[in-house]
Amino acid sequence: MRKLYIAGNWKMNKGLMETRVFVQRVVPEINKQDLGNVIPLIAPAYPFLEEALRESFSSALQVAAQDVSYHSEGAYTGEVSAQMLASMELKYCIVGHSERRQYHNETDAMVKARMLKLFEHNITPIVCIGETLAQREEGKTEEVIINQLNGCLEGIKLIKGTEIIIAYEPVWAIGTGENATPWQAQEVHKLIRNWLKNNYGETVANELSILYGGSIKPANLKELLEGEDIDGGLIGGASLKEEDFLEMVKIAVASKGEKC
Ligand code: 13P
Repeated sequence: MRKLYIAGNWKMNKGLMETRVFVQRVVPEINKQDLGNVIPLIAPAYPFLEEALRESFSSALQVAAQDVSYHSEGAYTGEVSAQMLASMELKYCIVGHSERRQYHNETDAMVKARMLKLFEHNITPIVCIGETLAQREEGKTEEVIINQLNGCLEGIKLIKGTEIIIAYEPVWAIGTGENATPWQAQEVHKLIRNWLKNNYGETVANELSILYGGSIKPANLKELLEGEDIDGGLIGGASLKEEDFLEMVKIAVASKGEKC
């Protein structure tokens, strides 16, 4: 059965104390639940990863970085390597978020290079793809998604399907309050799943979790999770409040995630 992720991407929010308080508050609540196949996850900023890892140690709450360098080590001021992340025993890392693509000119080739570095250190990449509003309006959603899949995953070996997580995040839905309808999201998720089937076969396609991201909140999550190919969410704004995050974990658990 596929894993269902409730993944909070905190972006450039929360300092040391806020990170500590959040994790200290949510961990006991998460520990009380039978999560089944649901994995709660947060992605704080780099300086606070260790704090989040320490405070969530031995709980089900997982911690991800928001980015990683595609270099191994050396004179790259400001960069953080996969090896550094692995030295904290971190297990997940977001790559290719549309904000990295937009503000830091990240290309699919760079996303792929980052993934390869993460693989060297057994860190699971959460690979973000998604079309802009202009691309959707021009009817190019399918073409854009397929191009991104081809570009990011070209030559990437997947056997089990659990080596990576894909997050479909339509750029027009991020931080706008305008989420994709469950139908719009499911349509693209199905496209992604079919692409996986054609390129990697049934096992990978069935096991790989595809998250939706873009203006998810407790009020719209249940409906989105009803999409057959929607295996959880990558959530920005609504993941910052403990009660909303916990509420979304509960919704995911209640949905049972009985997919595949
Ligand atoms: P919002 O949930 O704030 O729209 O952000 C989505 C996102 O970018 C998660 O990576």
